[in-house]
Amino acid sequence: MAAGKGTRLKSKHPKVLHEIGGKPILAHVIATAVKVVPAQNVFVIVGHEAERVREAVRATGVNFVLQAEQRGTGHALMAAREALSGYDQVLVLSGDAPLITAETVRKLSDFHRGQKATMTLLSADLDNPYGYGRVIRKGARGVEVQAIVEEKSANRRQKRIHEINSGFYAFDGHALYEYIDRLSTANPHGEYYLTDMAAVFQRARKKVVAIKTADAGEILGSNTRAEMMMLDARLRLAKCRELLDAGVTIFYPHTCVIDSDVEVGADTVIEPFVQLLGSTKVGADCRIRSYSVIGNSVLGNGVTVRPGTIMEDSRIGAGAVLGPYSHLRPGSEVGEGAHVGNFVETKKIKLGKGSKANHLSYLGDAEIGEGVNIGAGTITCNYDGVNKHKTVIEDGVFIGSDSTLVAPVKIGRGAYVAAASCITDDVPADALAFGRARQSVKEGWARAKREAQKEKHR
Ligand code: UD1
Ligand code: CA
Repeated sequence: MAAGKGTRLKSKHPKVLHEIGGKPILAHVIATAVKVVPAQNVFVIVGHEAERVREAVRATGVNFVLQAEQRGTGHALMAAREALSGYDQVLVLSGDAPLITAETVRKLSDFHRGQKATMTLLSADLDNPYGYGRVIRKGARGVEVQAIVEEKSANRRQKRIHEINSGFYAFDGHALYEYIDRLSTANPHGEYYLTDMAAVFQRARKKVVAIKTADAGEILGSNTRAEMMMLDARLRLAKCRELLDAGVTIFYPHTCVIDSDVEVGADTVIEPFVQLLGSTKVGADCRIRSYSVIGNSVLGNGVTVRPGTIMEDSRIGAGAVLGPYSHLRPGSEVGEGAHVGNFVETKKIKLGKGSKANHLSYLGDAEIGEGVNIGAGTITCNYDGVNKHKTVIEDGVFIGSDSTLVAPVKIGRGAYVAAASCITDDVPADALAFGRARQSVKEGWARAKREAQKEKHR
């Protein structure tokens, strides 16, 4: 179920697209669902901002059902009648509870089958059950459930119940659709509550049972920004634990932001205040120093990222050294053992094996070979105001400091470019290119000027 608006978030974005652990809440729930059943058997009920929600998770290969008007969780399942009524077992997951694990959903499914129940709900004991539906058990013992009472409808005695409805259910699909039309909107929200199916089935003498989660943390919903913050913290800390278990050292994990899908190799050290985002993969034996923000990038083994390095959509070869304060923009490919240093910005470049650009440069739209030395302050002038042009620098080239390379231009293998050159024409292999005005010296000029000045003021 992912059709709701999420009114309590006060957001223009649909609730299920808010991110936790660096990806939409709904994407977490779908990831769990497809571990339990194949994607072609997963139906996501969308409604509010349906097109945006679909687009965000389309790549998962699941199906979609449209609930054009959102008239409650029961109504959501009514909208899915055609898609679901043929199934012997229908598992219902709340699209706003991202911590649920496949193991728990499987337990719910197995318990349902074992009990030969018509409806099974996953419940949990919460210290603070406020806001959740409460589980009214049938008798003091046993697994059967009489009804679920929503917060707003609960009387004082019911509000004291700590066993809550998690919003995850297993149904007999045939029975669900035989009886679902018995739901009514006679409640404080004027909605069709899926939770009322418990009482509907009770009246029809069908078996309704509940199974309690071992870890109540798994079922927490994200109805408010405060709840989202807590879920995010939980998920990220769990991610750090997973990495620690896999042999990664993380100092002060509470200060790091590591997204759910990030991978890190053993013996890599992550310093405080590092962000590893999106689909980033870091190799083994790397050191990622503080204040680095790395998104959707792949780093080989033994890479050193010095403080304050920003990187997006880049690939870094083994043993490379980056930073401090390097900015690698999308399409930067840094070769094995290469160096990108202080205040160097790169975009859409290939920097060959062992090449170095250590200080204060802009390198964009460039193909740079192996063993190249890019002097401090070198700039590729890649943009003429309309089009982008390419700079090619072949193996073993030495570019003197403060050179400007006006693209399109090519520097041949092994050539030298003298410091402070403005290069507008191709340089052949093994040549030396000067592209600067010749220095002229006027001996004694400064002294003469000072003396003339003194004379004037006398
Ligand atoms: C629901 C349960 C409550 C339970 C809680 C657990 C009901 C009536 N109540 O309350 O017993 O304790 O979950 O988290 O079901 N949705 C739709 N279409 C709609 C309405 C909602 O698809 O018309 C989706 C939402 O996008 C959301 C999910 O259903 O992903 C749950 O809806 P929400 O409004 O968050 O229900 P709760 O108030 O949390
Ligand atoms: Ca909810």
